[in-house]
Amino acid sequence: MKNPFVYNAIVTGDHFCGRSKYIQDIVGKINNSVNILLFSKRRYGKTSLLKEIFESHLPKNFMKIYIDLFSITDETDFAKQVSIGIANSDYKKDITTRLKDLGNILKNVRLSVSPDPSGGISLTPTLDSGGFDFLVWFENTFENLNSFLKKNNMKGCIIFDEFQQISSIKDHDLEALLRGKVQQHNQLSYVFTGSKQHILANMFINTSRPFYTLADIIELMPIDKHEFYDFVSAKFRINNKHISETDFELIYDLSFGETRFIQKLCHYLFENESEEINKELILCVLKDITLSNDNFFRNYFPNSFTAAQRKALLILSQRSENLFSREIISKYDISTATLQRALKTLEEKLAIYKDGDQYKIYDVEFYHWLKSIKV
Ligand SMILES: Nc1ncnc2c1ncn2[C@@H]1O[C@H](COP(=O)(O)OP(=O)(O)OP(=O)(O)O)[C@@H](O)[C@H]1O
Ligand SMILES: [Mg+2]
Repeated sequence: MKNPFVYNAIVTGDHFCGRSKYIQDIVGKINNSVNILLFSKRRYGKTSLLKEIFESHLPKNFMKIYIDLFSITDETDFAKQVSIGIANSDYKKDITTRLKDLGNILKNVRLSVSPDPSGGISLTPTLDSGGFDFLVWFENTFENLNSFLKKNNMKGCIIFDEFQQISSIKDHDLEALLRGKVQQHNQLSYVFTGSKQHILANMFINTSRPFYTLADIIELMPIDKHEFYDFVSAKFRINNKHISETDFELIYDLSFGETRFIQKLCHYLFENESEEINKELILCVLKDITLSNDNFFRNYFPNSFTAAQRKALLILSQRSENLFSREIISKYDISTATLQRALKTLEEKLAIYKDGDQYKIYDVEFYHWLKSIKV
């Protein structure tokens, strides 16, 4: 039987749990062409939520454009990803009309057409390798898109995923250029999201940055525990497995609410032959996962952190309060000042974050690995 718990891919449809309030809120904003910044800790489900909204919660004639900026390193990459997003945009029209529409919007790139496995067509844009003029492309593409929507009395939504990556492009002030477009386009809602929440937040809440006040800010919280339990227990039941709500709470707490890790633990538990899922089995599966990460973290840990940072991480894996107690300072043989400095650098490196006045380790699997190390 196919494992119903997916932890390494974007989830939608049957694999997607809950989030109804967020869906209602975000769909309302998109319908009213309001721009959104969606942020959360890593792997809580931002991309999945937005894809689910595109797949199932917007009118058919809505133009849905998803742009992934994860791999961009310069403005040509940006142009390429935007062109790919537009070329693959989803809206209700027959193939011939779509080809004509998209060809008109993407006048400055070449589009090659090929059949896709689902029986439709796939359009691949290519930018001129020689004389590609970014500013001309930028101006034309966004204007063509806007006039296309206006002419057809359509609305659209552009998702920029991994949007923080645009701050690494230095050739033009892309933030300022985009701000100009975002402000003018009232047929379009722009949704910005990404996995580096600190960089993103800074782009939108810093008064001196172009994106200040340009979007409504929504923070995605962990999926509600009860709702997640109902989802998980129903999926276990299809293979005659049973889990109590208390035992699911253990999974949820061991994952600190991180959606991906909850799915990963459930995936492993589903693979296990035991029908009754209880505390011992959950801890055993957690141990297996931690063990399978051992090679990776044994390499990553010494190569990515200084000795003081390693001590700080080990301390944080054991406790989140009283970090500077005499017992800790002497056990780990580190001065208060050095520990303080290490914590600050780890926070800047996004290895840890502050939750109220406590520091926490960002990556759940790294946390469990650190916790398993005997000091
Ligand atoms: N609504 C959901 N229902 C069930 N599982 C989900 C849901 N949302 C996310 N997940 C789980 O979490 C994993 C990560 O989801 P996703 O990639 O959407 O998160 P993200 O917040 O975009 O991550 P990143 O910060 O790395 O960009 C998915 O592979 C899936 O296992
Ligand atoms: Mg994502």
